[in-house]
Amino acid sequence: MFRSSAILATAVSICVFATSSVKAQDVTVNIQGDKPGRSVNKNMYGIFLEEINHGVDGGLYGEMIANRAFEDSRPPEGFKKVGEKWISDAGWDSGFNAQPGSVPRWQLDQRGGKAEWWVVPVSGLNKNSPYHLRVNVTQPAGSGKATAVRNTGFWGVGFRKGASYKVVAHIRSTTGDVRNVRILGDDRYGNAVTSTLTGKSSGNGWTRIEGTITAKKTIDNALLTIELPTKGTVDIDYVSCFPVNTLNNRPNGLRSDIAKMIADMKPAFVRFPGGCVVEGGSPEMTYRWKDGIGPVEERYERWNAWNYRRTHGMGALEYLQFCEDLKAQPMWVGFAGQTCIYRNPQYVPLASMSWVIDDNIDFLQYAIGDPTSEWGSKRAEAGHIAPFANPLIEIGNENVGPEYETRYKMVYAQVHKLFPSLTTIADYNIPNAEFDLIDEHYYNSPSWFFSQFNFYDNYDRKQRPVYVGEVAVTTPEGGPDKGNMLAALSEGVFLMGCENNADVVKMVSYAPLLAHVNGRSGWHGMIMFDSLRTAGTVSYHLWKLFHTNRPDITIPTAVKSAGTTAKSIAGKVGVGTWLTSSEYKDITVVYGGKTVYDSNTNGFPGAKTEGGIWQTFGNVIRQTGNETGTYTFGDSSWTDYTLKLKARKISGDEGFLVVFGDRTGQRYWWNLGGWNNREHGIERNRGPIGQRVGGRIETGRWYDIEVSVASGVITCKLDGKVIHTVPVPETSDVYASSGYDTAKKEVVVKLVNSTSAPRNFGFSLSGLTGISNKATVTIIRSDDPQTNNSLLEPNKVVPAVSTITWPPSNGKITLGSNALAVIRFKARHTK
Ligand code: AHR
Repeated sequence: MFRSSAILATAVSICVFATSSVKAQDVTVNIQGDKPGRSVNKNMYGIFLEEINHGVDGGLYGEMIANRAFEDSRPPEGFKKVGEKWISDAGWDSGFNAQPGSVPRWQLDQRGGKAEWWVVPVSGLNKNSPYHLRVNVTQPAGSGKATAVRNTGFWGVGFRKGASYKVVAHIRSTTGDVRNVRILGDDRYGNAVTSTLTGKSSGNGWTRIEGTITAKKTIDNALLTIELPTKGTVDIDYVSCFPVNTLNNRPNGLRSDIAKMIADMKPAFVRFPGGCVVEGGSPEMTYRWKDGIGPVEERYERWNAWNYRRTHGMGALEYLQFCEDLKAQPMWVGFAGQTCIYRNPQYVPLASMSWVIDDNIDFLQYAIGDPTSEWGSKRAEAGHIAPFANPLIEIGNENVGPEYETRYKMVYAQVHKLFPSLTTIADYNIPNAEFDLIDEHYYNSPSWFFSQFNFYDNYDRKQRPVYVGEVAVTTPEGGPDKGNMLAALSEGVFLMGCENNADVVKMVSYAPLLAHVNGRSGWHGMIMFDSLRTAGTVSYHLWKLFHTNRPDITIPTAVKSAGTTAKSIAGKVGVGTWLTSSEYKDITVVYGGKTVYDSNTNGFPGAKTEGGIWQTFGNVIRQTGNETGTYTFGDSSWTDYTLKLKARKISGDEGFLVVFGDRTGQRYWWNLGGWNNREHGIERNRGPIGQRVGGRIETGRWYDIEVSVASGVITCKLDGKVIHTVPVPETSDVYASSGYDTAKKEVVVKLVNSTSAPRNFGFSLSGLTGISNKATVTIIRSDDPQTNNSLLEPNKVVPAVSTITWPPSNGKITLGSNALAVIRFKARHTK
């Protein structure tokens, strides 16, 4: 199979390692250009832009004032107060905890005078923004001073020396006084850090004060201060401060430094607005795009699945405009009638689904409809007469079950009728439904991603292809900010596998994209920022390499390395339940040609329970609590065995868990009748191994179950029928993949060294001619797999580019520890 190539010629190696103790432990990479490859979707790499972690409000959206419309103490939509909490009808806690009348994100500084303030919940600037601030100055602050209300911004207001900022505020004098106001940035100690904008109220209604201030210094934790020098009562609403230099200098625009980091990734698509944000924790708090159109002061603010109120300042036009600016295809994720499954789901009654359907089709009309149509005309009024690029539409996010499926079909029917040419994405392989792609999400550990290089190799090609919409290492090994060197490398290995299976994986995006370092919603972001600074994690830089080095066609590539681990599985066995009561008997383990365990003679040695109510009745083991739990036993040295048992479901929602390979830090199980008793799937540490298969478990019936591991393959049988044959996940020490960039006529090779020592890569090429004598090599690596970038050290791990002689002169490239390399060289590809 493997032929060494004549092109392994003269001698130069590139040294991209830190230590000099390179072991001559060679890796051979066979780039087989004479074998057929797979076409790679030109829109493969995109971004998932969700309002989470204050990624949009307080981040990408340029607004610097937090709680600008004083709506933050307004209770969440669709929740009732129970004790101190706001709870949905299904019992989910919204996370809202502001007291009535309170003024989050603002401070009152009396500066020696006397004043009181509170939020009034009615008669704000307009009907969509009913709350406003009332300040009653009973004793002015005195000579040269003024009572001040000060906005703290999103963990500080950031000004850059010399930059200009557009300020807007609305005031209303309720005591008939003419209120002089001064608006400026201050350093928290009363020292001005910007020029001052002055204004006064006129008449009894709201007066808009608008102008520009310029920063005198760079400061990341300033306040925006409104000074009220005279006595009387004044109302304040909608206070805004934007950099004048937003992305493309658009009004109500985007923060240009964050936008640039996104643009540098050259995303081919933008999935928005969520995520869980779309589904919410009550039907009333689901994403309503119509909140986010029209004059920005009139946009309704709504409580968010991530425990803060979203302003919709970045609304439909702004999202679509951003896509256009990025030259990226929009991907609209629309609510499907089931609220978030992780937030005690609720369902829009089938008879009331028309608003859900309309919300989706109206958005599509807004985006691409004729400018004379009802919603297309609103886009035109907003200044974008031409339709935007055709979006993809995903109906629902992470929704499951028959309730979702029925609603999906209802939404799809109307969408397809009115917009038949749009690509539609479903949350999974919905039986008897129409869709073009399935959205799969993988949050897992570095070891899982490393072991899933071959994840899609055995994908059932008869199924619809996949959009891997959310991918990230989320376990502690990824570091506190996630996306460290180790996490990035493992994600890279998974992406190489996706590229190799480009006929299955059509699109992929990381999640979440953005995180304010002080505003995280319990999540990371590949782009981190505060009020002035930005930094990409190592994952950001590595994904950017994939975005910008996408081949058009894959080239089959074989790797031989001494360090590939054997494909075997060792560990104890066990049984389990997921929200089910079940019983098990006649359990045997056979390996090495011998029956090493038989429950009828050995009982349950070393049994350990985790969750559930387990009891043994003779040689039958039973879980009686309709709960989730496992019962494991046996010997952790058992390796590559056949486990057989009989199982019967007594009651409950799902089916059985059959545990194998259970040892410290690792547990496999076969989940039968999982996912609402709709599918069977193998998992390791709850991460999927191979694809799930449709199937259910009936109550009251004994099933024969068999799990065997042999010759690197896991085989699962139910009543004698093979349900899965999946390769044992293999963790290798090195990985390689290749493809061809047809426009640049370049071969693109990706290599990963996941070990802590440098490795020598030798190459053999076939089916390629006219090979150039130079190659560019881009390497991202670190001695320490835990290393990450930060706001203080944003460039600790970034890619380094060099040019080398190609083929490498001594036939080898030495790649340092914990490294990913992208090698590009010119060649003609004959296949
Ligand atoms: O990316 C963060 C969240 O993870 C998304 O909102 C959701 O789709 C998933 O559960």
